[in-house]
Amino acid sequence: MHQAKLTIDPAFKVAPVRRRTFGTFVEHLGRCVYTGIYEPGHPTADEDGFRRDVLRLTRELGISTVRYPGGNFVSGYRWEDGVGPKDRRPRRLDLAWHSTETNEVGVDEFVRWCRKADAEPMMAINLGTRGIEAALDLLEYCNHPSGTTLSDLRAANGAKEPHAIRMWCLGNEMDGPWQTGHKTAREYGRLAAETARAMRMVDPGLELVACGSSSSSMPTFGAWEAEVLEETYDLVDYISCHAYYEEKDGDLGSFLACSTNMEYFIRSVVATADHVGARLKSRKRIDISFDEWNIWYLSRFQNAEPPTDWPVAPRLLEDHYHLADAVAFGGLLITLLANSDRVTAASLAQLVNVIAPIMTEPGGRAWKQTTFHPFAQASRHAAGDVLRIEPVSPSYETADYGDVPLLHAVATHSEEGTTLFAVNRSADGPLSLEIDARALGGKRIVEATTLTDADVYARNTADEPDRVAPRANPDVEHDPMRVLLPPVSWNVIRLG
Ligand code: AHR
Repeated sequence: MHQAKLTIDPAFKVAPVRRRTFGTFVEHLGRCVYTGIYEPGHPTADEDGFRRDVLRLTRELGISTVRYPGGNFVSGYRWEDGVGPKDRRPRRLDLAWHSTETNEVGVDEFVRWCRKADAEPMMAINLGTRGIEAALDLLEYCNHPSGTTLSDLRAANGAKEPHAIRMWCLGNEMDGPWQTGHKTAREYGRLAAETARAMRMVDPGLELVACGSSSSSMPTFGAWEAEVLEETYDLVDYISCHAYYEEKDGDLGSFLACSTNMEYFIRSVVATADHVGARLKSRKRIDISFDEWNIWYLSRFQNAEPPTDWPVAPRLLEDHYHLADAVAFGGLLITLLANSDRVTAASLAQLVNVIAPIMTEPGGRAWKQTTFHPFAQASRHAAGDVLRIEPVSPSYETADYGDVPLLHAVATHSEEGTTLFAVNRSADGPLSLEIDARALGGKRIVEATTLTDADVYARNTADEPDRVAPRANPDVEHDPMRVLLPPVSWNVIRLG
């Protein structure tokens, strides 16, 4: 039997839990918008054409921000196409996803949907095919109260109150050669700086995100962040990180340890940002917006035949997640939480149908993927401060990351209670976890759940939506506190 232990002490504070860690992402891609959040004619559609079943699951997921409208899509997007009477909106080619965009949903519908979902909108601007002027126009349309052509147009389109969008992404993945309007770091850094400067003339209080690297394996990784921040340091608040992981060649051990790469990514970007800050003699600190992260079987997408037609809302990137995906996903969430001192915003990419925790059938059912559960549980129970837990754990050898601990965990603590989020990466047996919570003064385990399955590749489907769901963990001892974590499992242990 594997044995591990950890210590929960409110004195080991990392940072406050950031609600924006639980952000997500809605892109005009595949069926995320059309037949995802929006489907007029669906039996559950509301007066705006939004699916109520998806809204209900979105609220249950507990999201904070929603990044929109892309993603790669934004780099060719004309926001004006998506406002005004729907029957006059143009249909356009979407080069990013080889699709036809009908523009039935645009910024006004998106913000309306966010209000219904209890979420904060986070807007990305097009710095691929467009630039400063279009960014300023969109900002004025969204946020200016009234009395200008664009703000009055918003009111005429039904949104009298300003959308009051605070967080803005200055483009998307501009380091990627696949991006429409891809740029070098210097080119992008200059454009981002001048766009940020102009946007701050409209509203100095905006929170602006400069594009970092599309992954830590990009050839320009590190140099890109340094050059972009040299141009933008005083003008932005965040640098972005994007990372996707998948199980490759049946190497489950490496896959379950993929958060090791996310940890390396975060540390490297923090070090690079702080280095630029030191060189600029700046007292300001740049935080990370990890605004795309998830499990994504990207290799399947890349190996598929390239499309020849231009469909509306095709089935794209509809990965069906299994238990092991959810456990690897849980490890990524633990890593984001554990780095809350510098990762102060994040967006799970994406929300519905497209590499998503929520799936839908057009005209039919909506259900939860396995990855829904770690996100919903962490969003619900992470509160107060994030704590270091000083784990002592056996390790195992992985091909990609060398020696990695079997236990991966983080705790949060508030007046209302303390919660431990823990993953057992072992595929060959349970992990007996001893919890030293003496510093909490007589607290007991009030709830322990585990997400696991005898088959690590078990999935949820529309017919069997609860095959993989959190269940009460029966293997709990109170004195000393001990919980048996099943092999390949995500666990939530609440003390009160
Ligand atoms: O989330 C899917 C895609 O992944 C996004 O459009 C892009 O930004 C990233 O490469």
